[in-house]
Amino acid sequence: MQIHTQIPLKNYTTMRIGGPTRFMADVHTIDELKQLVQTAKAKNLRLFVLGSGSNVIAHDEGFDGLVIRMRILGFEIIEDNATYCVLKIGAGEDWDATVKKTVDMRLSGIEAMSAIPGTVGASPVQNVGAYGQEVADTLVSLEAYDTTTNEVVTLDNQACEFSYRHSIFRGRELGRYIILNVTLKLWKSLPKPPFYDSLQQYFDDKGINIFTHQIVRDAVIAIRAEKLPDPKVLANTGSFFKNAIIENWRLDDLRTKLPDLKSYDMGDGTTKIPTGWLIEKAGLKGQLLHGMRVYDKNALVLVNESASGYVDLASARDEIIAAIRDNYQIIIEQEPLELA
Ligand code: EPU
Repeated sequence: MQIHTQIPLKNYTTMRIGGPTRFMADVHTIDELKQLVQTAKAKNLRLFVLGSGSNVIAHDEGFDGLVIRMRILGFEIIEDNATYCVLKIGAGEDWDATVKKTVDMRLSGIEAMSAIPGTVGASPVQNVGAYGQEVADTLVSLEAYDTTTNEVVTLDNQACEFSYRHSIFRGRELGRYIILNVTLKLWKSLPKPPFYDSLQQYFDDKGINIFTHQIVRDAVIAIRAEKLPDPKVLANTGSFFKNAIIENWRLDDLRTKLPDLKSYDMGDGTTKIPTGWLIEKAGLKGQLLHGMRVYDKNALVLVNESASGYVDLASARDEIIAAIRDNYQIIIEQEPLELA
């Protein structure tokens, strides 16, 4: 295993921002990982695990520690019967290639999460979700290396404490676990309505009323291509902000300011407000702020056009957060993790 030094993080994150990491190494096996973590601990080095860098923002000063690039592979059928199939998938596998395999196997559960950039191991961290599905719906358990006890542990779905774009891995246990593989339970049934609004709209527009896994995957790929910039072409990390969750009692007041308010009842006394819509209402869609473009097809996405680095990105982000706070008294949060 090779340990590289002074590697520019901007070459390893899709926002293309970030100074050098002191050390970087690719890990292909659990043994390699154990060895590396122990070396880092002995040298008092901080650790950060990177998948494909599509949901991570690095800083201009880089990272004074060891970045581990997760490359542990594997795609194994654990259980297979007439109604469902349980799969164990290595953390380093590409997420969309995995979705494609499950769609080819005519399995249902992650087909609406097609074309999301990133790796399988990153998906539980922010409880990846799209078009009505999220990882928490199908994840049975995962195996992780616990860096505090140096043991491989199994965490079941409940232990991950999933919520909207959140889990213990980016919350109270940030930095503790290194995800090695995930176990998903997928169904042998066809995808069924009701579908997420924009997906249903797409089916209606195209006159599609037979739903297979492949039809759903193709529709999601087409919708995403329309609304989300390809990180290979335009530097971005997908949604840059989370959607806002507000207490229901605030809705009446908010509707006086925003009579056409878009909202989704979460069923627990809170309501989700689409942040992209709020940013658009605040007049920021399409604007260039400190070299960061508020994407003109989806205001939830920031594209790095000409930012000089993290400082510019942070200025743009903070201006957008302030505009939404001042206009609507809603505090929106950044979605990608900080590599720090
Ligand atoms: N909207 C606007 N203007 C905008 C953007 C959105 O009015 O500029 C409106 C849309 O018209 C729609 C509503 O906001 O009525 C919600 O938009 P959309 O369905 O496109 O989804 P989103 O809330 O913008 C979330 C996820 C996406 C995921 C889509 C589809 C988050 C932070 N983002 O976006 O995930 O693909 O739903 O399920 O929850 C990502 O996390 O990187 C990501 C792309």
